[in-house]
Amino acid sequence: MDVQRILDDIGTDMAARPDRGLAATYIPELAGIDPAQFGLAVALADGRVLTTGDADVSFSIQSVSKVFTLALALGRQGDGLWSRVGREPSGHAFNSILQLETEAGIPRNPFINAGALVVTDTILDGRAPKETLAELVQFVRAAADDDDLHIDADVARSEQAHGHRNTALAEFMAAHGNMRNPVEKTCGTYFHQCAIAMTCRQLALAGRFLMGAPDMPRLVSPARMRRVLALMMTCGHYDASGDFAFRVGLPGKSGVGGGILVIAPGRASIAVWSPGLNANGNSHLGSIAMEMLAARTGWSVF
Ligand code: DON
Repeated sequence: MDVQRILDDIGTDMAARPDRGLAATYIPELAGIDPAQFGLAVALADGRVLTTGDADVSFSIQSVSKVFTLALALGRQGDGLWSRVGREPSGHAFNSILQLETEAGIPRNPFINAGALVVTDTILDGRAPKETLAELVQFVRAAADDDDLHIDADVARSEQAHGHRNTALAEFMAAHGNMRNPVEKTCGTYFHQCAIAMTCRQLALAGRFLMGAPDMPRLVSPARMRRVLALMMTCGHYDASGDFAFRVGLPGKSGVGGGILVIAPGRASIAVWSPGLNANGNSHLGSIAMEMLAARTGWSVF
């Protein structure tokens, strides 16, 4: 199979599409990003990395960071994490507060904002946010085998200045006893983790620890890897998770920066990026490109 040819075809198709979605506006620093951009990188089990489009342009990974913090949290605290956060799809928007009210401040899953705040609270563990963020960035660098990736302080500041909704989620959970650190520290750490900037090439490489192929970075146990993938499949696209599973058939995690990390177990780690979003806050072209890639390669977990 000529994967490069498939990527080139997808790149050509994406460049010609007039409807590119809308960049996130609630984080002002992301609002001005040119929606014409599209990048795709595929890290294959044989070690090759194939790309098309703007695969070497850095973007804000936003909620894709939740995959890395979940892996870290499970490593630090093991299955104890599941007493503070659930493992069910929410069927609601990524930033919804609705279910916390009736579900005792326990978020449905680690990928909605409320759940990700609990995960970040876990890895913070009484430490300074700086120390926790250094550990996280080191984890991502080790996964990508690339030291040249950083937190974009302007994006973090921009989100922090408009972060009332996340602060409200964290305060609400604190009221239920489900926050262990001061809310401003957990939220500050969370805003900075979301502001990690990476290229598609770096993100595809960073996802290799979830591929389950020989010679890939081994940052979590095979059992944990499968569980992270199960959560990506069921909860990685919020209330569009069912639709992504239906259309693509692979576990994926999206972010409002327009990036999506997708894993084809045993075969590839894939990163796609286009900043324009659909109504669910997931990359519009990124979702379409992944559907095309899965159809053309036949990669699927089903
Ligand atoms: O907390 C937020 O709202 C953002 N930092 C991340 C949200 C996000 O990426 C949702 N993804 N589709």
